[in-house]
Amino acid sequence: MQRIKEATRPLHGELIVPGDKSISHRAVIFAGIAEGQSRITNFSGGEDNHRTLQAFKDLGVSIGQEDGAVYVEGKGWEGLRAADKVIDCGNSGTTMRLLAGVLAGRPFASILDGDDSLRGRPMRRIMDPLNQMGSEIQSERGNGLAPLKIQGGKLRGIDYKMPIASAQVKSSILLAGLQASGVTVVTEPQKSRDHTEIMAGMFGGKPKVEGLSVSVEGGQRLRGQNVAVPGDLSSAAFFLVAAAAIPSSEVIVRNVGCNPTRAGILELLKRMGAVIEFLQRDDVSGEPVADLRIVGTELRGIEIGPDMVARTIDEYPILFVAGALADGVTTVSGVKELRYKESDRIAVMAEALRQLGVQVEEREDGLRIEGGSRLKGACLKTHGDHRVAMSLAVAGLRADGGVEIDDSTCADISFPGFFDLLQQIRG
Ligand code: S3P
Repeated sequence: MQRIKEATRPLHGELIVPGDKSISHRAVIFAGIAEGQSRITNFSGGEDNHRTLQAFKDLGVSIGQEDGAVYVEGKGWEGLRAADKVIDCGNSGTTMRLLAGVLAGRPFASILDGDDSLRGRPMRRIMDPLNQMGSEIQSERGNGLAPLKIQGGKLRGIDYKMPIASAQVKSSILLAGLQASGVTVVTEPQKSRDHTEIMAGMFGGKPKVEGLSVSVEGGQRLRGQNVAVPGDLSSAAFFLVAAAAIPSSEVIVRNVGCNPTRAGILELLKRMGAVIEFLQRDDVSGEPVADLRIVGTELRGIEIGPDMVARTIDEYPILFVAGALADGVTTVSGVKELRYKESDRIAVMAEALRQLGVQVEEREDGLRIEGGSRLKGACLKTHGDHRVAMSLAVAGLRADGGVEIDDSTCADISFPGFFDLLQQIRG
């Protein structure tokens, strides 16, 4: 149980958020399958990333941590050994789905499992294409859900049209494709985050990107690298919305990854009337980064269509809060995928917003939110979902008397220290 008091004055300060979760996963994965030493700095300390780190240790890769950096001694694909236990992916869909792509081509059997939330998330989306490539992945309960039993095999390239935009599915297939004979092509209906393509290139692979398709040739040699992980825009988003929605606030978040395939939140907040400035732009490990300065104003409701889904996917819970705090109506559509995240984020956020006194209409693929009225104080449920917990904490800053949230520890999945930083910018 955590109490979030209503903010009585504007937010002020400068922040550094943890390293990007998606990029941290990929850094460990590529370092683990490459040859030679890799050094990863600003690795996210979140629990999800520790699952990927531990998984590679379980697979026999030597990994150490010193002075805040992670050192991985990769011995190439052949260096991976069967784990002598079930690999526990915890709450992390990225760990399970990307690891399945790696293990699909390894000549041994593995079992991947996770917590109750991960055991409820769809896995056929990776099982089908990976099995078409030649692996044997079975759902132990026969229902397309984890635990997954993976017998890796000799893979052949496929030309796969993905039914949904998903960086996890795309990355899983590309990781298998790097081990397959011939060329593997994946085509998405909308461009999802391209961190795998960027990192494959950095480690010496040669992915080809043409429009919505990415192709890789099997048998490429990957070499260990130094990777500096940019700050996580998805973590920064909670502070961006908090500052944007409290007039006269001024917050700077340093070193935030601003990859355009992830930057939907910045575009949408600007459309809502937020003032966001890029102070310093740079390039870190092939990824654009910037210091972001945000100034609080009155936000206005907007319509958010299906075209935004891929580049905004993790930011909808906090955008729903922005919608509740903005004047007028915000409608979000085309986001049915949110029902398959760490929780059903459409249902869970609709329930919480109603408790806060907001008029919300829940639709199959989104929400209609009538914003602008004062939020009521309430006791809210996070359903163990880290992004829901942090979004509701931000709502609490603007609720009469604040809010109570039932579980704040789940924020550690992506953002240990979130509540301390929130306290810091309240002054
Ligand atoms: C991620 C991709 C997204 C996102 C998740 C991280 C990744 O999932 O929601 O938090 O690192 O590839 P989907 O690919 O399922 O949309």
